[in-house]
Amino acid sequence: MELDQSNINHALSDGYWSVKVVETIDSTQTALKLASPQHGDVIVTNYQSAGRGRLDRSFEADKGSALLFSAYVTPQRDRSEWGFIPLLVGLSVAEVLGIEFFTKWPNDILSDLGKVGGILCEVQGDGIIIGIGLNVSMTHEQLPVPTASSVLLTLGSAPDRNHLLPAILKEIAFNLAGWESGEDLIDDYLDSSATMGKSVSVQLPDGTTLSGVAAGISSNGELLLDSGEIISVGDVLHLSLS
Ligand code: BTN
Repeated sequence: MELDQSNINHALSDGYWSVKVVETIDSTQTALKLASPQHGDVIVTNYQSAGRGRLDRSFEADKGSALLFSAYVTPQRDRSEWGFIPLLVGLSVAEVLGIEFFTKWPNDILSDLGKVGGILCEVQGDGIIIGIGLNVSMTHEQLPVPTASSVLLTLGSAPDRNHLLPAILKEIAFNLAGWESGEDLIDDYLDSSATMGKSVSVQLPDGTTLSGVAAGISSNGELLLDSGEIISVGDVLHLSLS
């Protein structure tokens, strides 16, 4: 199903989000950054020629096979706490997709078959650009890497992106409002997490590796290991069940 701007905005009739559909773009993330965004602005596309992932990686998806969008929010909590936003977003996506989907600290969405989506959050001005790439109708042949999967491959059917996008945006707005009113959402996040309780190895940006059991999450979204290490940025490898 093609993306339909009026259908999507109609489903979001409370006016919180304003969604623009573009057929092709370099990156919704870069485009929104350059557009002097306001709270609630969203760009979604069928295809990105230069999609960006975390840690300067690329994010690739065949035309129409993924939900690719960026949304701008100005969180009403202290900037020092914004590290929780990527986790709040991952929780929101997993909640909408259903019980077969989990979060992987810090920014991935998984099913038992592999990574189905990623989240890239970048501070811009007084807010954050939330970028989400979700493999919706990707077939085996279209997967960018062997460790990836898709909603289609996990569930046997793919949701219509015109329904999925408003559902995710509404869930993000709902969870953001709760968090802004003082809820910490940590228990909800832990319920969604495939990382908690697992033995993990975490590669830090400086190349060093830490190992331990994932024991918790701080209110700022840091990963707490049983060894006492507190990790704010890194790539996690799940080694085993606890
Ligand atoms: C990751 O897995 O490393 C994060 C991937 C984030 C990809 C999304 S797709 C929409 C938005 N535009 C981009 O260029 N990147 C994000």
